[in-house]
Amino acid sequence: MTTNKKLLAWVEEMANLCKPDNVYWCDGSEEEYDRLAAELVENGTFKRLNDDLRPNSYICMSDPSDVARVEDRTFICSEKKEDAAPTNNWMAPAEMKTKLTGLFDGSMKGRTMYVIPFSMGPLGSKIAHIGVELTDSAYVVCNMRIMTRMGQKVLDQLGDGEFVPCLHSVGKPLAPGEKDVPWPCSPTKYICHFPEERSIWSFGSGYGGNALLGKKCFALRIASVMARDEGWLAEHMLIVGITNPKGEKKYVAAAFPSACGKTNLAMLTPSIPGWKVETVGDDIAWMKFGVDGRLYAVNPEYGFFGVAPGTSEKTNSNALASATKNSIFTNVALTPEGDIWWEGMTDKKPAHLTDWKNRPWTPESTEPSSHPNSRFTAPAGQCPVIDPKWEDPAGVPISAILFGGRRAKVVPLVSEAFDWNHGTFLGSTVSSETTAAAVGAVGQIRRDPFAMLPFCGYNMGDYFKHWIETGEKADQTKLPKIFYVNWFRKDENGKFIWPGYGENIRVLEWIFNRLDGADIAVETPKGFLPKPGTSNTEGLDISPERMNKLFEVDMEEGLVEMASIREYFNSFEGHVPQELYDVLEKVESMYKKS
Ligand code: GTP
Ligand code: SPV
Ligand code: MN
Repeated sequence: MTTNKKLLAWVEEMANLCKPDNVYWCDGSEEEYDRLAAELVENGTFKRLNDDLRPNSYICMSDPSDVARVEDRTFICSEKKEDAAPTNNWMAPAEMKTKLTGLFDGSMKGRTMYVIPFSMGPLGSKIAHIGVELTDSAYVVCNMRIMTRMGQKVLDQLGDGEFVPCLHSVGKPLAPGEKDVPWPCSPTKYICHFPEERSIWSFGSGYGGNALLGKKCFALRIASVMARDEGWLAEHMLIVGITNPKGEKKYVAAAFPSACGKTNLAMLTPSIPGWKVETVGDDIAWMKFGVDGRLYAVNPEYGFFGVAPGTSEKTNSNALASATKNSIFTNVALTPEGDIWWEGMTDKKPAHLTDWKNRPWTPESTEPSSHPNSRFTAPAGQCPVIDPKWEDPAGVPISAILFGGRRAKVVPLVSEAFDWNHGTFLGSTVSSETTAAAVGAVGQIRRDPFAMLPFCGYNMGDYFKHWIETGEKADQTKLPKIFYVNWFRKDENGKFIWPGYGENIRVLEWIFNRLDGADIAVETPKGFLPKPGTSNTEGLDISPERMNKLFEVDMEEGLVEMASIREYFNSFEGHVPQELYDVLEKVESMYKKS
């Protein structure tokens, strides 16, 4: 238990508001997890998978209306609109609190309020921070136990210290005697952040980033504000250790938008001999400068909440291996043997399945068996290539930062920024096709700067400024080098040109060698590109013509892009720092000269 006065008072106040039947403090034990999972089975929320095939694991089908993050229902409630605008939905905090207080009043009737103390980052690490989530969903508790370090040990660590209060309700109170549904949720959804008081209120959804509040709400939206105020970085980035055939190791962080390849890159199986890739994190990086002047990263999470479809022995065997036991599968299909399946898991489709909407499914069915944003929740420690330093409280030193998106055209396979400010420029201009990770149309190109569009807790122009200032304050010789990659360029038939996945090690090899100062690059307006013939294509079935296509730089197209970037920067109404306009002008003049 705890004697933290602020925590005790807040739990009491919220219990008085939400009116649950009881309040339960999670200790984080295995026994507790098993008990809650058994209750979820009893309620029809979970089915236990066949223990011979997938020990201690569960499948869960959500309500079909509650399957992904709801960006249009996500709000940053800063005192001033300008501190959230223009990329976030905003409402004045007082007005939103009034609205939320109405919604949460009695919202937990007939349910238990679970108190989940959790640490983002290794317990006691200087880079870590503590949160407490109150939720009326046992599904959330089970997922939080895999995704974060949680329970009594966190309260012990917290003592009388500060925590981020995170209130969550599925928004479906039960009348006396009313039978629960397998996936309670509400048609009314509000995912709200109060950056000044560093708190989170989430109502109406039980899914992923809407409900597991340690993840996007805390570790990105609130933490990005903390990072700005305290001089560090909270980013939507994987962290990976790469060892070359000589045994030299470097750590790299990479920001790609949702469902654009972070988990895959984080645990890639190299296709070329001698290289090794090890996982520190697959979604979020918290980075602070060490006393030696280098940037150190920790993975604040404890598990993976990974996209299921497309994950196979061929594409990401390490993700599959991470989820062989002690895992939760949401919105995938169930096999007659009591195991799971999803599109792309095997070449041959199973003859019979139960689909994510609980209907019989056969290969002739017109709809996919699994939702495109179906996910596995798996303990990071089960990943066969987890990095030996993944729990190091000091973090790992970052040598390179990659940005990338899903772009069928225009963006080359890899380019290197001229310097930190140009890298910040590249990050600020990331654009990508939308994916099923958020509710809404899929495949539309939108700007997603730093892959943070849905996750920045303050004015995005000020966030760019924070990046510029971070570079200015740092020892230039120790800053990570910045690169931009794109695995998703397509040919005229709509096929991916680059084989991707394990073959991406070839791009990492080029980056690794550039970090060592290799003379393998040419200057272009897009940054340094590989000199022809310097990307390793040995053993790869790709023609030189197709390879060239991956690096095409169209000058006309480039100038059009620069004009669109200027317009984009102007939309932040004075918040984009002058340094980025300076880079824009430099790049524009390079296009004009060439
Ligand atoms: P979030 O968890 O939503 O943040 O996603 P993520 O960035 O971790 O994406 P993930 O690695 O789960 O990949 C999403 C989808 O992209 C999956 O269907 C992958 O199979 C596919 N994908 C990943 N890497 C590659 C690649 O190199 N090439 C191609 N063509 N597809 C890829
Ligand atoms: C993402 O959408 O970037 C995710 C999944 O990682 S969620 O946790 O739902 O945000
Ligand atoms: Mn993500």
